[in-house]
Amino acid sequence: MKIAIFWTGYVGLVSGACFAEIGHEVMCVDVDERKIENLKKWIIPIYEFGLEEIVKNNYAHKRLLFTTDAKLGIEFWDIIFNAVWTPPDKENHNKADLQYVEAVARTFWKYINSYKILVNKSTVPVGTWKICKNIIQEEIEKRKEKKEFDVVSNPEFLREGTAIKDFMLPDRIVCGVETQKAKEYMGNIYKPILRNYSSIVFTDIKSAELIKYASNSFLATKISFINEIANFAEIVGANIEDISKWMGLDKRIGNRFLHAGIGYGGSCFPKDIKALIETGKDYDFDFKIIKATEEVNEKQKTLPIKKYQKYQKNIAWKNIAIWGLTFKPKTDDTREAPSIDIIKELLKEWVAKISCFDKEWANQMKNIFQWEEHIFFFEEDMYEVLENADVLFLLTEWDEFRIADFWKIKEKMIWNIIIDGRNIWEKENIEKYGFIYEWIGK
Ligand code: UDX
Repeated sequence: MKIAIFWTGYVGLVSGACFAEIGHEVMCVDVDERKIENLKKWIIPIYEFGLEEIVKNNYAHKRLLFTTDAKLGIEFWDIIFNAVWTPPDKENHNKADLQYVEAVARTFWKYINSYKILVNKSTVPVGTWKICKNIIQEEIEKRKEKKEFDVVSNPEFLREGTAIKDFMLPDRIVCGVETQKAKEYMGNIYKPILRNYSSIVFTDIKSAELIKYASNSFLATKISFINEIANFAEIVGANIEDISKWMGLDKRIGNRFLHAGIGYGGSCFPKDIKALIETGKDYDFDFKIIKATEEVNEKQKTLPIKKYQKYQKNIAWKNIAIWGLTFKPKTDDTREAPSIDIIKELLKEWVAKISCFDKEWANQMKNIFQWEEHIFFFEEDMYEVLENADVLFLLTEWDEFRIADFWKIKEKMIWNIIIDGRNIWEKENIEKYGFIYEWIGK
């Protein structure tokens, strides 16, 4: 089938490349000329495992095309995916700004020349499909034209770092449709993947829009729930790893997203939760559980500092070492990462120096803290940041940290305090080297 994807952000590019990989003809459209030129040279703007190879392969076979020409993207393609970004609204940061989603709907009516489907893939508040439909409908009526079209909601559930796998082997594909024709088209798009025994679910459009928010909010709630239990487990002397493990064996609960730590971050959970709470307000509805999820997460993010202050109350003029900045491993994304909150708090305490290591992807952090003289970023050697450090904070569970050389760590640090925000090491093992070791919920 002929699929056009509007914008080559994270979701658009991954989905476009994967649709091409499963045999469709895909045209990726973006307003950013440089990005499009770069993509034609296989320069990928984001890091996602396996993406570069798929882009290269499908571009070479002409199944994946890139353009800045929106007209071309709509006139010659049957199914138009709206995967533009929905940043926080300028006036109300908790709301999603829908101007780009609406702009695609406007472009759609402008160039629609036969039956076409506009598929919203971006995460958008309930009812956005209707806004898009009205935009298209009103304009078509104004021009007294008769044009058949459908609006569909097909939310994405791609996790950064495993997005290709999530696309190719999804737990489920959700499609909110209004007509039988749209249902058939959507079924055909995903047919190659359905051969892998994934299931496709058809529902009304509002439910599809809400499934995305409900799923992300539920997963975030699971994390805040286990973090709250972890904090209590510490007080009573229980062990959160055992609690999560044995709770998770109950199939009704499941063992995933029960890993205690310093909270969730990223481009989705924090934004989606805020947006759902705001949408609730529009309908005079108060999301109590989801608000609590957010509150617990906010507190959890800076827990490592409180743990450190148990040993060194006054942390002014201390040397801090940080391992891991991204919101989770296997991504270059630091959006809403707990590391940002921790660094901001540390700066308020007048620490002498914060030395951070995170592979080669600390660029976003360098931008955020570019005017701070006390922060240093390292990308080559994880042990470099430990020179004369008073404490080591482990904030992201990159694999290499799991097999760290503790003799080497000890040799470099002044004080031997380690705060493990992701529970990746074993206390008994680390204390053998003479470290003071704190983890979460144990
Ligand atoms: C998420 C959803 O999983 C995905 O379906 C959606 O479409 C986009 O948002 P992503 O943001 O890539 O994906 O990350 P995810 O793997 O879900 O992790 C989110 C955060 O939760 C990370 O900061 C991670 O460290 C944290 N987390 C996750 C925990 O603290 N504990 C856990 O048990 C699991």
